[in-house]
Amino acid sequence: MTTRAPFLSQPYGGYFHREVPSEDDELTHVGPGTPCGEYWRRFWVPVARSDDLKDLPQRIRILGEDLVVFRDGSGSTGLMELHCPHRGTSLEFGIVCQKGLRCCYHGWLFDVDGRILETPGEPADSTLKDRLCHGAYPTLEYEGLVFAYMGPPDKRPAFPKYDTFERADYHSWAGDSCELPCNWLQVKENCMDPAHLLYLHTIGNEDPEAAQVTGDFAEMPEWEYMETPVGLMYLDTRRVGNKVWVRINDFLPPTLHQFPPSGVLFREGDFGGRPEMGIFATPIDDTNTRLFWFNHTAEGLEAPKGLPFGQTSERPYEERQRMPGDYDAQSSQRPIARHALEHLGSTDRGIILLRNLIRRGIRAVQQGEDPKGVLRQDPGILPTYCRDTMVDAPPADTPEADRVLLRETARKVAEELLNGAATAG
Ligand code: FES
Ligand SMILES: [Fe+2]
Repeated sequence: MTTRAPFLSQPYGGYFHREVPSEDDELTHVGPGTPCGEYWRRFWVPVARSDDLKDLPQRIRILGEDLVVFRDGSGSTGLMELHCPHRGTSLEFGIVCQKGLRCCYHGWLFDVDGRILETPGEPADSTLKDRLCHGAYPTLEYEGLVFAYMGPPDKRPAFPKYDTFERADYHSWAGDSCELPCNWLQVKENCMDPAHLLYLHTIGNEDPEAAQVTGDFAEMPEWEYMETPVGLMYLDTRRVGNKVWVRINDFLPPTLHQFPPSGVLFREGDFGGRPEMGIFATPIDDTNTRLFWFNHTAEGLEAPKGLPFGQTSERPYEERQRMPGDYDAQSSQRPIARHALEHLGSTDRGIILLRNLIRRGIRAVQQGEDPKGVLRQDPGILPTYCRDTMVDAPPADTPEADRVLLRETARKVAEELLNGAATAG
């Protein structure tokens, strides 16, 4: 653990603040053998988009490991160590075969589970291939994403299926993918932070597409953060005329956030519904993170295209300075944000809850237990909480009393959801 930087209470005090403490490595480092890396290696994590696996193998890096991912001619997906076990040539130059992937250098052929099917240059009676395996990880495909389990084989969990991915009247599909040059935790923290919607997403905002949920709301929402049976949620509650609008966002550890549809629907005067978007974040290594965007589109509606505003570095630098987006805010917190330099405030309760949940999970793994979110048996379809809810509730007599009413209304909505009383939608 590092010591915290001094709390500066004097003007022109920069001289006293020059040390940069190191990062919280327990929460942020994901390479093999690290506490957080072991935590991640207890879950199924998305590693690639199904559509990206064509006739060439893809070189990728996940949790600090260099790997190759491919789909062979029989349709099976494989994820294995990048370097061939013969003499180390990268399998990104390999040949995708009907069954498995063949190294380009001397033709060794590997099945998706790492078994060596052929060693063409060896004598016919060689038993090398029967004695040796290449390092491989189990994969599965779900709704257009390839997931992998990179942990100990005897701890492989059931694959979680959430209600939002299984709605009969919705089409669920993998959207685009993008990369952020920073640690995974600050990327996930962004999703537990409704306060940034009100500030970051309204700066320089002539573009109504970027206004998202903040738009014309001058009033501060009420924010509440709580644990759910499957993860965490925040409630973002506002007055809208004679109604109270409760916007709930889910975190499903370790990788998925779900967002309500209100960013779009609010402009159309319709606040209904369950999420239309999710983001999976997978650590590439300690200082790079891959996002997989996920869409849920109701039958008959046109599917969104491309990434939302501000998710990449592709815009000109000056434009990003004048109208920064999520990419700029998160990646500029340093490659790994230094918690010992932060001054957390009341809007950071979700961040604290998230860090505590992750730390608890990391320590559970160290004790040989399962972290929250790991499923030993297939539980069927899991209920999640993300949604927009509108409640009829005319304003109270005073602004103060109305704030209380907003909080009470939000809590009631949350309680009904947690008790399973609310109808799935
Ligand atoms: S290095 Fe791969 S087969 Fe020789
Ligand atoms: Fe954002």
